[in-house]
Amino acid sequence: MLHFVTTNKHKFQESALFLKKHSIPIDHIYLECPEIRSDSFEEIAANAAEYAYKRIKKPLFVEDSGLCIKALQSFPGTFSSWTLKKIGLDGILKLMKSIKNREAEFISVIAYCNEKGIKTFKANCIGTIAVRLMGIKGFGYDPIFIPTGYTKTFGQDFKLKNKLSHRVKALEKFASYLNGD
Ligand code: IMP
Repeated sequence: MLHFVTTNKHKFQESALFLKKHSIPIDHIYLECPEIRSDSFEEIAANAAEYAYKRIKKPLFVEDSGLCIKALQSFPGTFSSWTLKKIGLDGILKLMKSIKNREAEFISVIAYCNEKGIKTFKANCIGTIAVRLMGIKGFGYDPIFIPTGYTKTFGQDFKLKNKLSHRVKALEKFASYLNGD
């Protein structure tokens, strides 16, 4: 059995749903891993996977993700969780108020650890920051993120999120690796 170590139930649900379709059942381990301070999603995820593996000693993965806004030099990036707690979605919308370039990307890095070591899988989802909150589905920045080519936010259209999100794309790479494709 493969274990997903996360304290975020949304991340677990999205991942379990996707991996089930690829015949990879997963188990949820609710363990808080210390998060190192870094600009690199890979470094943070790999560090957390190493920490978790030392304790659990079973094949597992963790995921580190965040939102990078182009006009804000990729802020909040690896500080997405902290930023959301401090200034919320309204704070982000205020920062973006007079900014025309609303391009942003979500990034997801999965770090898989087993007895052989750590392997990472990275993916992104490009879009724009909405001008107001739209939708209440999902979590985090979902109500303000509109993927490129669509008009609804992830917070409005969860099916869309489960089709093309950064997490789903990273999971696709991970599933191919596990299934030996
Ligand atoms: P971490 O990966 O636990 O460090 O947290 C990442 C943070 O980025 C989350 O708390 C969310 O605020 C944000 N985030 C990551 N993925 C998503 C997503 O799929 N939708 C919305 N926000 C996300």
